This record gives sequence, C-alpha cells and structure tokens, in this order.
Amino acid sequence: MSIDIGLEDKQRDASAKALNVLLAETYALYMKTHGYHWNVTGPRFNSLHNMFETQYRELWEALDVIAERIRALGHFAPGSSEEMLAEATIKPDNGIPDAEDMISNLARGHEAVSRAAKAGTKIAAENGDTVTEDLMTQRADVAEKTAWMLRASN
Ligand SMILES: [Fe+2]
Repeated sequence: MSIDIGLEDKQRDASAKALNVLLAETYALYMKTHGYHWNVTGPRFNSLHNMFETQYRELWEALDVIAERIRALGHFAPGSSEEMLAEATIKPDNGIPDAEDMISNLARGHEAVSRAAKAGTKIAAENGDTVTEDLMTQRADVAEKTAWMLRASN
C-alpha cells in the first residue's frame, strides 16, 4: 500500500537515513553500557552497576522508538546487529576498562549520540518532518543529560 503522510519520497528517505545513524550509535552504546553493567568492578560497584542498568534500559527503549519511526516513514529497520553497527562511530572496547574509563567512555558515547541526534534534527527540519525532528530533539536531550551525569561521576 502506498504512503501519504505529507512528505515526498526524498524527504522520507533523508529522515530515515538520519534515523539509521542515530539507531546505530544508540545500539552500539546500548551494548557497551549493558556490558559495563555486567563487568564493572571496584569500590563503586553497586552504584555503577545500578546506574548502568538505568542507562541501558533507557537506550533499549529508545531503539524501539527510533526503529519504529523508520518503519512509519516507509523504510525497513536494520535486521541484524552487523547491519545496525555498520554506521556506528562508537566502537567496542578491547578488553574490560576500569570503572573510571567505563564512565568516560559512556560519557563520550552519549555525546556522540547527541551529535547524531542534533544532525538528525537539522535534516528532519530541512525536510519538513516535524515528527522526526521532535524525536531527534528528545534523544539529544536525554543523551546530554546522561553525559552530564556520567561526567559528574568521575
Ligand atoms: Fe543485570
């Protein structure tokens, strides 16, 4: 069935592409955060283990929202981790970082998510896609707040 939501094909394509980038960064950061939740060690174990859980749950929920927006624009969401991670600038670690490095890696990750979301906000705005613009703005807001909390923890 054809799609008629007041956006041209190329406007929907541009938004879906920007959402794919945001999805990639969010997925890479989700995986990193969940891994840190499992592997963090040291005297701050309990508080960091719990903080990372709050964060990975929020990222997991966001993945669904972002992917479903891609679907609502008439595009398919990536169907594998490999496809999803191809566009991510957030890379896996080699080995297990110490607690302080985990915190700074995650702060950097949320900053990368914020940059992707803000680039996406601009693209969506240029293409008259106010719904995606709003989603991108909300993701940048959460990412920047989380980056602040992480920076404040080190
Ligand atoms: Fe757990």
